[in-house]
Amino acid sequence: MSYKKNIVLIGFMGCGKTTLGSRLAYKLKYSFVDSDRRIEDEKKMSISEMFEKYGEEYFRQTEKDMIKRLSKVDKQVIATGGGVIKNPENVEELKKKGIIVYLSATPEHIYSNLRNDNSRPLLQGGDKLQIITELLEQREGLYKECADIIIDVNSSAINDTVDYMIQKLGGLI
Ligand code: S3P
Repeated sequence: MSYKKNIVLIGFMGCGKTTLGSRLAYKLKYSFVDSDRRIEDEKKMSISEMFEKYGEEYFRQTEKDMIKRLSKVDKQVIATGGGVIKNPENVEELKKKGIIVYLSATPEHIYSNLRNDNSRPLLQGGDKLQIITELLEQREGLYKECADIIIDVNSSAINDTVDYMIQKLGGLI
């Protein structure tokens, strides 16, 4: 595999992209960027508000524009939104400079992280575990297909997972 300058974290909502990504960036002395937070900062509204006011399509277009911009910068760890892989153009952009790391979690693990979270519009209004299970089932194939590296995040402590990621990235960055 050729030398890549960015590390791109993909995975379902609540799998730990932001927490693990910022820690990984710190250890590697890379900068860290979270695509959704950057969108919220620039648009001056939360993702939930954006879904509510303008709908998912508007968010996806905004996300696509953001991914295109972030993909041009070097030496970053990029935490993406869980649905970024739905658009092949995003994946193509991110792969130009980035090595794609899929953080793989079970529905139960995700549920335990998001049980009390109301900031994910796609998980509102129903049995949360069931929604997570079904959406993950739909997306899992895509996550795996896009990934250069897959990391199981179900059990280890944050620091151990980050060290393991660095070990797996060895030689690629
Ligand atoms: C989404 C995931 C969210 C956010 C939006 C849609 C998704 O990001 O982009 O609510 O489609 O999975 P996180 O994965 O950071 O929660």
